[in-house]
Amino acid sequence: QWLQLQRPKNFPPGPAALPFLGNILSMGGKPAVKMTEWKEKYGDILGIYNGRKRVVVISDLHILRKIFSEDAASGRVHESLIREKNSAIPIGMGLVFSQDDLWKTHRRFALSTLRDLGMGTNWMEDIIIAEVEGICDVLRNANEKPFNPKIRLTNSVSNIICALMFGKTFSLADPKFSRLTDLVAENAAIFKQDFVASAAPFLLWFPNVVRTKIFKARRNLTGWAEFMTEMINEHLVSPWQLSKAPDYVYAYQQTKINGLGNQGNDTFNDLQLVCSLVDLFVAGTETVSTTIRWMMVFMIENPDVMEKVQKEINDNVGWQNVLTNSDRARLPYTEAMIFEVQRCGNSAPLGVAHQSREDIQLEGYTIPKDTLIISNLFSIHRDSRYWKNPDKFDPTRFLDADGKLTRPEGFIPFSIGKRACLGEALARMELFLFIANLLRCFTLRLPQGKTLSHNDYQSSIVNSPDPFELIFVPIF
Ligand code: HEM
Repeated sequence: QWLQLQRPKNFPPGPAALPFLGNILSMGGKPAVKMTEWKEKYGDILGIYNGRKRVVVISDLHILRKIFSEDAASGRVHESLIREKNSAIPIGMGLVFSQDDLWKTHRRFALSTLRDLGMGTNWMEDIIIAEVEGICDVLRNANEKPFNPKIRLTNSVSNIICALMFGKTFSLADPKFSRLTDLVAENAAIFKQDFVASAAPFLLWFPNVVRTKIFKARRNLTGWAEFMTEMINEHLVSPWQLSKAPDYVYAYQQTKINGLGNQGNDTFNDLQLVCSLVDLFVAGTETVSTTIRWMMVFMIENPDVMEKVQKEINDNVGWQNVLTNSDRARLPYTEAMIFEVQRCGNSAPLGVAHQSREDIQLEGYTIPKDTLIISNLFSIHRDSRYWKNPDKFDPTRFLDADGKLTRPEGFIPFSIGKRACLGEALARMELFLFIANLLRCFTLRLPQGKTLSHNDYQSSIVNSPDPFELIFVPIF
C-alpha cells in the first residue's frame, strides 16, 4: 500500500501506480492496447500515471465528445524534453502544442488558409496527382521485383505539404529534402521516449538509450527549424508565389503586414511561423503515408476487397483515366475501404494528448487542472458498442442500404471537438487520390515465401506497420 502513489480525491479509477514511475513499467510497447485492457477492468474513464503526471484516458465516444467540446479540456502539455522552452521549436508555440489565445488565433488562421489553398483552385489536387503519377512511375520501374514503398511514399506526401507551405515542391534527389523527410518517421517513433523521459527525467543525466533518442529528436527539430527559416527567407527575397496561387508562408506574411482586422496580430511573428510550419510538416506527413501503407497491408490480407475496389474503378471510370477528386462520389466502395483502413489501422491510436486548463467535473469524477487527457481512438474503433464484428475488415459497414457512403458516429480517426485535426479535408483528398490511383494502376502481391499481418506494427504517436516489400503488378 505504501508503495502506491496517492490519487487525488475523486480521480478516476485505474491500476495501482508506483511513486516516481507511475504506470510506465506496465505500459509495454503498445500503450493503446494496454489502455484498452485497463478500460475493460476500470471503465471508460481511466486514471493512470505517467511518472508523477496524472493521465485520464477516455474510451467512450459520448464522454469524449462532451469533454473535447470544452475549452477547459483544450490545453496541451506545457513541458517537453524534446521541445525545450529555449530550443528552436519551443513547446507552447506553433499549432499542435500551443493553447489558449495563441492557439485559437493561429488555428483559425490555419483552417481558413488551408481552405483557401485547397478550394477555389485545383492546384492542390494537381500537385497531389503529379506526386501520385511520380510514385506510379517508380513502382512500374520496379519491374515486379519486391519493393519497399515507404521512403518514396513519405517523400511524396512531404512534398505535398511543402507545396502548401512554400508553393513549391522539391526534387526527390535533393539531399536536403530527403534528409528532412527521413527524420519524420524517426521523430514520430521517438515521441514515445518523450513520454518515458518526462516520467523519469533523471534518464537524461547519464548515457542510455532514452537520452540518446531525446537528443536525436532535438537535433532533428533544430534541422527542421533551419530548413523552414531558410525557406521563409528565400520567400521574402523572391515571393515566387505572387503570380501563382498564394501559399501558407505568403498568407502568413500578408496577415502580419495587413493585420487580422482584430486582436492577435502581434503573435504573427517569425518563431510562431517556423513552429507552425514544422507542425504542419510533421502532422501532415507520417499520418498520411502510414495510412497508405496500412491500405497495402489490408489489401494483401483481403484480396477480395482489392478486387472489388478495382472493379468499381474500372466499371465507373476505366483504367486509363487518372482519378480526380470529382470521381469520389462515383466510387463509394473505394471510399468505404479507405475509411475501413483508417478504422482498423489506427494511424493515430491515442490522438494527441490534451491537458486540462482547470479542474473538470466529468461523470462524477474530478479531473484536476494540468492532467493529461488521452482519447483512446484505438479502443473506440474496435468497440462492439459502436461496431458490429469489430475485428472483421469489412468496408461495407460504411455503406448504407443504397450503397451510399455513410460515416458512423464511432468513426473518429481525426479525433473530435475543438482540437480535432485541422488537416482532415486535405488528408482525405490525399488518401483518395493516392490509394484509388495506386489500385487503378497496380495489383498488390506478396513476394513468395513472405508473410504480412496487420498485427505486426510499431506503436508510438503513430501506429506504423513493420517494414515490408511488395510486388506491384501493373494492370495496364
Ligand atoms: C491534430 C489525425 C493528417 C495537421 C490531429 C489529431 C489527430 C489527427 C488524431 C489530434 C486531435 C486532438 O488533439 O484531439 C490525423 C490523421 C491524418 C492527419 C489520422 C491523416 C490520415 C493531417 C494533415 C495535416 C494535419 C495532412 C496538415 C495539413 C494537424 C494539426 C493538428 C492535428 C495542425 C493539431 C490541431 C490542434 O491542436 O488544434 N490530427 N491527422 N493532420 N493535425 Fe492531423
